[in-house]
Amino acid sequence: MNSDINNEDSGPTHQRRARYKGSYPNHFHEKYKELNPELYPDAIEKVMSKGNTPAGMHLSICVNEILAILNPQPGEVGLDATLGFGGHTQALLPRVRPHGRMIGIDVDPIELERTERRLRALGFGEAEWQSQQLNFAGIPKLLQAMDSGFDFVLADFGISSMQLDNPERGFTFKRPGPLDLRLNPHQGQPASALIQNLSADKLEQMLRDYSDEPYARILAQAICQNKQAITTTSDLTRVIKGALKHTPADVNRSIRRSFQALRIAVNDEFLVLDQFLRNLPFCLNPNGRVALLSFHSGEDKRVKQALDAGLKAGIYSEISPEPIRPSSQERYANPRSKSALLRWAIRSDSQ
Ligand SMILES: C[S@@+](CC[C@H](N)C(=O)[O-])C[C@H]1O[C@@H](n2cnc3c(N)ncnc32)[C@H](O)[C@@H]1O
Repeated sequence: MNSDINNEDSGPTHQRRARYKGSYPNHFHEKYKELNPELYPDAIEKVMSKGNTPAGMHLSICVNEILAILNPQPGEVGLDATLGFGGHTQALLPRVRPHGRMIGIDVDPIELERTERRLRALGFGEAEWQSQQLNFAGIPKLLQAMDSGFDFVLADFGISSMQLDNPERGFTFKRPGPLDLRLNPHQGQPASALIQNLSADKLEQMLRDYSDEPYARILAQAICQNKQAITTTSDLTRVIKGALKHTPADVNRSIRRSFQALRIAVNDEFLVLDQFLRNLPFCLNPNGRVALLSFHSGEDKRVKQALDAGLKAGIYSEISPEPIRPSSQERYANPRSKSALLRWAIRSDSQ
């Protein structure tokens, strides 16, 4: 019987929280303290002191380095092209006050809605901050509605901890869930559908090109032979473990690389990254600054090539000579920052 209907006049009834099987919630949706950080700051502190990211949060990477590179000034206009949890925006936005503003875009409609609510609750009003669901490949569309370019642009590629930790999104092999891996679950096809239509040759190529997987051939054949039985993250993990049983492979690394390759394919990540990098200099005002955070060699290679080419063509006046890595303290406090590579560029004022 529906208790809400029964108690229409007496207000909502108190619902007891379901008991956990052990002493601590294991499942993402049970971690109610971490999912309500404003109510339980001590719980958040405790999780972070162990080097973990609380459920439903994302720890922003290289924040101080990015502030130094982008050097936002009062009155400037900035773009956060990968809004995520909004942690970088939260640090950058106060620097453009007064009279400045920032736009934040993200392709993920689910997390974008939460971040919009979170940042509004922190006091970021419409006049200084707007968000939009948009793929960063489409940044020229933003410019059409503006009267100038951006003074600074940040892109922090890949996925957020909220996306990674939520088993319903299928990004992690550590928890059972649908093999989805779409950044925008309302668009395109999930990874489980993608593999149904791929030949072993295509899949092998994908594993090599997108994640340098040394056992690409063996894995592609095993996945193709079992594809009808692969609909969840656990199914894929089981097939990979079985296929590598008699090899000296580091199985967890191969699983991680396979998930990465599928994610890149499902979201066309290299195609949209190339489009973004091509459009980027033309969205910047003269002397505009850009900071780009990559998390694997395929991303960093593209960023490096685009910045080198821009410098050669005189579009950028200066670029980072080498990628910047998070400090050892940051890598220790936030192990998810370990693979980050930060590059920057300055738009020339003459082109
Ligand atoms: C690492 S997170 C960003 C975290 C953010 N900097 C923060 O401090 O909270 C990357 C975000 O980029 C988004 N993203 C990935 N590819 C995108 C694309 N092509 N266009 C727009 N957003 C994208 C993801 O959905 C994710 O929310």
